[in-house]
Amino acid sequence: MSVSLPNSLANSDVPRHVAIIMDGNGRWAKDRNQSRHSGHRAGVSSARQSIETAVERGVEQLTLFAFSSENWSRPKEEVSALMKLFVEALQRELGELHASDVKLRFIGELGLLDAGLRDKIFEAEQQTEANTGLRLTIALAYGGRWDIIEATKALARQVTEGLLQISDINDEIFAAELQTAGAPCPDLLIRTSGEQRISNFLLWDLAYAELWFTDVLWPEFDQSVFDEALSYYASKQRRFGHTGEQVKAVEC
Ligand code: FPP
Repeated sequence: MSVSLPNSLANSDVPRHVAIIMDGNGRWAKDRNQSRHSGHRAGVSSARQSIETAVERGVEQLTLFAFSSENWSRPKEEVSALMKLFVEALQRELGELHASDVKLRFIGELGLLDAGLRDKIFEAEQQTEANTGLRLTIALAYGGRWDIIEATKALARQVTEGLLQISDINDEIFAAELQTAGAPCPDLLIRTSGEQRISNFLLWDLAYAELWFTDVLWPEFDQSVFDEALSYYASKQRRFGHTGEQVKAVEC
């Protein structure tokens, strides 16, 4: 993947961690009289393109919201078609992601997924474990409230077992129990399709993120739209009048 920064983006203005709520596959398909499934297939191409852009622009971490806790309530056929699509996409893309030095991680209630998809996830994480390029996190069967509740339970267990004092619980100790433990908080959240909501995505982690919304539907989210979001982020950085490092000092 070649590296070409647009003139408007200096390296220090590039967000370290970008999180994306990929929305609008269904509406994109409907506008074309196509099935929702073809919208999701086009969404996979957009995801691939956004990964390439993140690598080219020097983003360190990219987190994609692929399937939420709430998405289980979609029609059964759509859910199983989506799961199949995830398996196929992983099968097809893993080699190239690995060759591009991408380190893959999955977060969410992965125990709820089919064994076949879980196997692929395990294989992808294992194979890319030692990679040092873009850290790509895919949120599957993920919900921010679920994540916070699980972290709370883990801390409560430690208190019950006498391993932790309640008075010792702070931001750092709490964040260490979240699915995103060890990753810096997202600096920039992008959501497509005109909706301006967080929709139970990384509720804890997004506390200080810049939020950027676009009417563009996810299958049409290409490099130029990603660059618009990055330029917006860069302009916010300049407006704050601090150095990039100061602004990005908030760690999870
Ligand atoms: C968003 O559009 C679609 C999803 C959240 C489902 C899955 C996402 C993809 C297939 C994109 C590819 C992702 C990866 C990581 C392989 P929607 O169905 O909510 O659209 P609508 O709001 O217009 O109905």
